[in-house]
Amino acid sequence: MDTEYVRSRFIKHFDGTTGFLYASPGRINLIGEHTDYNGGFVFPGAVDKGMLAEIKPNGTDKVRAYSIDLKDYVEFGLNEEDAPRASWARYIFGVCREMIKRGVDVKGFNTAFAGDVPLGAGMSSSAALESTYAFALNELFGENKIDKFELAKVGQATEHNYCGVNCGIMDQFASVFGKAGSLIRLDCRSLEYQYFPFHPEGYRLVLMDSVVKHELASSAYKRRQSCEAAVAAIQKKHPHVEFLRDCTMAMLEEAKADISAEDYMRAEYVIEEIQRVLDVCEALEKDDYETVGKKMYETHHGMSKLYEVSCEELDFLNDCAKEYGVTGSRVMGGGFGGCTINLVKEEKYDAFIKEAFESYTAKFGHEPKLYNVVISDGARKLC
Ligand code: GLA
Repeated sequence: MDTEYVRSRFIKHFDGTTGFLYASPGRINLIGEHTDYNGGFVFPGAVDKGMLAEIKPNGTDKVRAYSIDLKDYVEFGLNEEDAPRASWARYIFGVCREMIKRGVDVKGFNTAFAGDVPLGAGMSSSAALESTYAFALNELFGENKIDKFELAKVGQATEHNYCGVNCGIMDQFASVFGKAGSLIRLDCRSLEYQYFPFHPEGYRLVLMDSVVKHELASSAYKRRQSCEAAVAAIQKKHPHVEFLRDCTMAMLEEAKADISAEDYMRAEYVIEEIQRVLDVCEALEKDDYETVGKKMYETHHGMSKLYEVSCEELDFLNDCAKEYGVTGSRVMGGGFGGCTINLVKEEKYDAFIKEAFESYTAKFGHEPKLYNVVISDGARKLC
């Protein structure tokens, strides 16, 4: 990301002086999709694409925010009734409010920001924006009294309370805790986490963006309801169960008569997916990338046929990957569009990319986009 560019826009837009530059990344997730809000495991890593914001306290009680990419300027106060209408500004407002709720004395500031995480590609551009401001406001107004877990929760609460998205903790956690060269296995119930250095010798990790934009809010909500319905049915016999994380397929089977066929499928996917994260971690410890890849394909199948959050374009990209001998491939993130994540052997890379581009373009009339993944650091101050 171009720090000079953001700084020069800030200077131009405000009073000619500089503030402080903060950055936070988007994320990938190797495996563990829709498991976070089921108390399960995820396996994300931060990427080298994210959000960059220049921020300077302005001595007033107003936030003056400029989106460089959208060329849009919004000014708002810090009280609940001052909520801005522009959706991008609501992220910043939400973070301010959530920090205030946690005892940080947020005051007015000027800010300009830009990003290079593709929007709607399933790489968590919104979490990157939230983490940038949560991290910055903690430094500028909070004497760093909020710990990193709570900063991630500030972002998540912003989604819940100000953006209408009932998401889990994965995206914001990865954006705050990211570490160059490592994926993070996170237990979303206990928030225990472990870094796994990820340098798959002889392989590349690449994202293929279908450029189909996703609409997460309502569909994600329905999936969550299905998971909760399955848990409620299982609890009748197993009262200790809190999340699908605590359930086995045998327990789900017992409850089959009490839930809809659709809820059963959703729960089956989640129970299997939580186990797949653990299997992948075990395989990685043995450098067994064939097993990692096999699990990724299983995830795609589950997301497409059981959780039903894929789409024609993503299924097509997944089929292409299979056809060209890609080791592992699956839809990444919430689904309904965005990217597939692909683990590709070096020697197969060029042919796969060429063929996938050609056949995708021929079928859908537009090209996919390609991003090579560089696993990078989380939220930070740049200067
Ligand atoms: C979105 C949500 C996350 C997670 C993923 C699916 O990115 O924000 O919390 O549920 O979808 O794994």
